[in-house]
Amino acid sequence: MAGIEEVLARAREVQRRAYAPYSDFRVGAILETQDGVLHSGCNVENASLGLTLCAERGALAAAIAAGDRAFRRLVLVTDGKEAVPPCGACREVLAEFCPDLHIVASAGESRREWTLEELLPRPFQLKKSKGMTP
Ligand code: THU
Repeated sequence: MAGIEEVLARAREVQRRAYAPYSDFRVGAILETQDGVLHSGCNVENASLGLTLCAERGALAAAIAAGDRAFRRLVLVTDGKEAVPPCGACREVLAEFCPDLHIVASAGESRREWTLEELLPRPFQLKKSKGMTP
């Protein structure tokens, strides 16, 4: 299993690839599976600002496409001085797969940690129909 410093280094690496010409706020996200596999995401902005993709949801989409659905940790690196939690939309999307996710956020010298349950105690839920794959 990778240690937190190693995962943070991976998050900084993907943060450098963020496309954020409008906000100038780059986000790198690493979503770590229960088995220690690391999936990466970065924010991808668009001139039509509302079409912007968040780093966390990018990492989650990459993980799902790779066949992984069980996660234990999300590691975020952002610009600015204060470590920030995932936005509300990303909290909902993460809660779909891992309500007890551990989240570590880092920016400059600041580092903060939460559980997803703390950040989103009452996620929206809907009964699943059959036919879930795989
Ligand atoms: N952003 C993320 O990537 N994740 C979040 O949880 C919040 C915001 C991005 C979207 C946009 O490109 C920039 O940060 C400023 O909002």
